[in-house]
Amino acid sequence: MCGIVGYIGTRQAYSVLIKGLSRLEYRGYDSAGVALINKYKDLNIYKVKGKVVDLERESENKDISGCIGIGHTRWATHGEPNTVNAHPHCSQSGKLALVHNGIIENYVTLKAKLESKGYHFKSETDTEVLVQLIDYVMEKHHLELMPAVLVAMDKVEGAYAIAIIEKDRPEEIVVAKKSSPLVIGVGDNNEYFLASDATPIVEYTDKVVYLKDGEVASMSPKSGLKIENLDNVTISPEIKKVTMDIGQLEKQGFPHFMLKEIYDQPKRITDCMRGRVNPKTLDVVLSAVTDHKERLLNAKRIIIVACGTSWHAGLIGKRLLERFCKIPTEVAYASEFRYSHSPIDKDVLVIAISQSGETADTLAAVQMAREKGAFIYGICNAIGSSIARHTDTGSYIHVGPEIGVASTKAFTGQVTVLIMLALVLAKEKGTMSRESYEEIVKELLLIPERMQKMLEVDKQIKPLSKEFTFAHHFIYMGRGFGYPVALEGALKLKEISYIHAEGYPAAEMKHGPIALIDNEMPVVIIATRTCLYDKVVSNIQEIKARKGRIIAIVTEGDTVVKNIADVTIEIPTLPPCLEPLIATIPLQLLAYHVAVCKGLNVDQPRNLAKSVTVE
Ligand code: G6P
Repeated sequence: MCGIVGYIGTRQAYSVLIKGLSRLEYRGYDSAGVALINKYKDLNIYKVKGKVVDLERESENKDISGCIGIGHTRWATHGEPNTVNAHPHCSQSGKLALVHNGIIENYVTLKAKLESKGYHFKSETDTEVLVQLIDYVMEKHHLELMPAVLVAMDKVEGAYAIAIIEKDRPEEIVVAKKSSPLVIGVGDNNEYFLASDATPIVEYTDKVVYLKDGEVASMSPKSGLKIENLDNVTISPEIKKVTMDIGQLEKQGFPHFMLKEIYDQPKRITDCMRGRVNPKTLDVVLSAVTDHKERLLNAKRIIIVACGTSWHAGLIGKRLLERFCKIPTEVAYASEFRYSHSPIDKDVLVIAISQSGETADTLAAVQMAREKGAFIYGICNAIGSSIARHTDTGSYIHVGPEIGVASTKAFTGQVTVLIMLALVLAKEKGTMSRESYEEIVKELLLIPERMQKMLEVDKQIKPLSKEFTFAHHFIYMGRGFGYPVALEGALKLKEISYIHAEGYPAAEMKHGPIALIDNEMPVVIIATRTCLYDKVVSNIQEIKARKGRIIAIVTEGDTVVKNIADVTIEIPTLPPCLEPLIATIPLQLLAYHVAVCKGLNVDQPRNLAKSVTVE
């Protein structure tokens, strides 16, 4: 978490930094700050508790001039969110300013050593240790900034992406990276950008360099871009092209990114299937499978690793892979899997699902499984992200940047890729009849259209959500493919409306949750005709008998549940495996409108961050 930005060149850095920080706010918004060096070599640091708009207010009428600067938006780990703990942090000498994303694990030891050398610390952060350490190394060994960073970072354990500027030498920014993302943008006029992801950079240049772990770089309009690794080996920069539709980084008339991204789904799912699902031949092709057929088909066991919403998509993946391909599949929380003793070898296929491609636990799980010989397939959204780069192969979901912290279009994109993957593998393995395969492909091609139609339910959900503004708890239930949908619906509500919500397999209700049901408990239940309908209807009766308020997602034309439930929302008749793509939409909208009714910050819910780069 935390986002870092930087600029050096001929433009005024401040506006580049502010715009960049706003784009990175999804990574954390506990505090924000910038450091700039003006033409008189004054180092001006402005920082506030709160968001980037608060920072802009704070810097009004202050000297924000300078063509070099760094900025930070924080998700607090060490030290509460306040101005002192906000980045940039300054060295005791007043010479260096530094921003950091990550966690320094040996900061207590380093801090004690530096204190014994006379360094005093102002903040409670692990980051301040870095800036003092670099300052110390510069002084002690009479080194310039980049060589000092190379020496200092060799002593540091943990994860970091840092950017440092030096008051007396406003001609360079030095950056370093290990386990936290850092992208350098190479502009046309000897200017350089840096950021935690490419979104702050793309409107200035499409040329980027993804710094690798253990690399330190100096960006200077005079001497260019120099990269060295911690073994002092010079690395020639590998410039890549990024293209991003900048419109996707704006709200485009929607009040929130989340709503825009919910409405974006028909288009983005079309993008996700483009070139992969052939409407004429009804064939599905994934280049990753074509290129690695043998290894994928030989997998005796699949383990899906992911966190949060991506883990819910994984639960759908398990059902698809077992049903279509007959391969035993487990779904593990990445954070648990990496410390488990699950036997892994070359016969195991690990599928890592991550929107951001940067989630620390998922990345670590990938690295662990790879070392043990498993073949790793990534399903990511962010192009060029760490997980995408550390897997053996994979498929991007291609849904465009997702900015709202609560994941929406990425979930449906992940499910779409998993459906395509299961279909391709089933075809190759011969575990599915051509008839069933074609039936699903035909329906899959109709999904964007069906999503568009489903969005009309917004008219029904908006007024309905008002009734739930004061609810304290919600239960979500489903079975089969409906169970992960229930979990995802509950997570959406929790994340943005702060209402306690739990997802349960409907049949488990009798083993505990039924005790919670009274006339104040709303129960959302996926009761489509395909998901063990009769049994779910019995569950609904049991809730009704205890006066629970039932919101049921039903198949169009349903009359049975309609007579029992307080509210019914209809979805079209679909093969069960495709239902999650449609049934999720009303649940996303319900969470959205409840949060809006409560007057909450939908795109930036408290305590959360979109990209969790700490373990
Ligand atoms: C955070 C986000 C969630 C996301 C999860 C996994 O918790 O707030 O929306 O599902 O991380 O992120 P990933 O980028 O790996 O999918």
